[in-house]
Amino acid sequence: MHDIVRRGTALLAMPLVPEIRLYQAAEPVGLWQDVEDVTGRTGTDPPFWAFAWAGGQALARYLLDHPEVVRGRRVIDIASGSGLVAIAAARAGAAVVTAYDIDPLAIAAIEVNSRANNEQVRAVQADILDGGPDADLVLVADAFYERRLAARVARFLARSQERGTSFLAGDLGRAYLPRDRLTPVASYDVPGLGALEDRDVKRTTVWTGAAPHVGAQVSADRDELDPLTVMPKVVEPPGLTEPS
Ligand SMILES: C[S@@+](CC[C@H](N)C(=O)[O-])C[C@H]1O[C@@H](n2cnc3c(N)ncnc32)[C@H](O)[C@@H]1O
Repeated sequence: MHDIVRRGTALLAMPLVPEIRLYQAAEPVGLWQDVEDVTGRTGTDPPFWAFAWAGGQALARYLLDHPEVVRGRRVIDIASGSGLVAIAAARAGAAVVTAYDIDPLAIAAIEVNSRANNEQVRAVQADILDGGPDADLVLVADAFYERRLAARVARFLARSQERGTSFLAGDLGRAYLPRDRLTPVASYDVPGLGALEDRDVKRTTVWTGAAPHVGAQVSADRDELDPLTVMPKVVEPPGLTEPS
């Protein structure tokens, strides 16, 4: 698994988070095809783990610039992908960081990437969205791109808040982002997204739970966000792409 992660990728720093290097691919569809060829499996998940998504980059930037948010705390990163957010939390001084993803290749990527950055992250292949958080802080980035997943993540975050566990979510305003239940904390222009999104630079926000008295602030920030429904480009499995 670790070899598959390294095979179609290169260890690169990201423009918004140059402190962290990740094994990243240049484009998704070729890598997806390659993974299916190597593993002999079809119908695999897209290689989300081979990219630093806008939400992950924004949230990682925020954690590195505000280490007091995570310092000494037990942190979980759900839908971790490459592990970028988890690695940033570890770098910012979290006591323990656990990264969850359902894709076994994401788990391999988190292991390879955390090692490349000399950070300790526990990578766990599990879907914990129907439970409650065993942590002081929940992190999640770019997980509102599918209706069902988004609804489950939103319920998990609501449950976390009810239990007194705060959360931070990085998202550029995807279709199923539950904005009414969120408060913006910070926004960044994330560059270098041309292979994944409709534009190379995307304004991306770090959110936390909404409190009733901050409604005006939420509305103001909405105006700055892309009003379009924003879906990632990575939607067509390799078998369905047009031959070039
Ligand atoms: C778009 S990627 C975001 C990765 C990373 N957070 C980032 O911002 O770069 C979404 C990730 O969610 C993972 N995922 C999907 N459903 C999940 C679930 N039920 N539990 C945990 N992870 C899930 C996918 O495998 C994928 O790695």
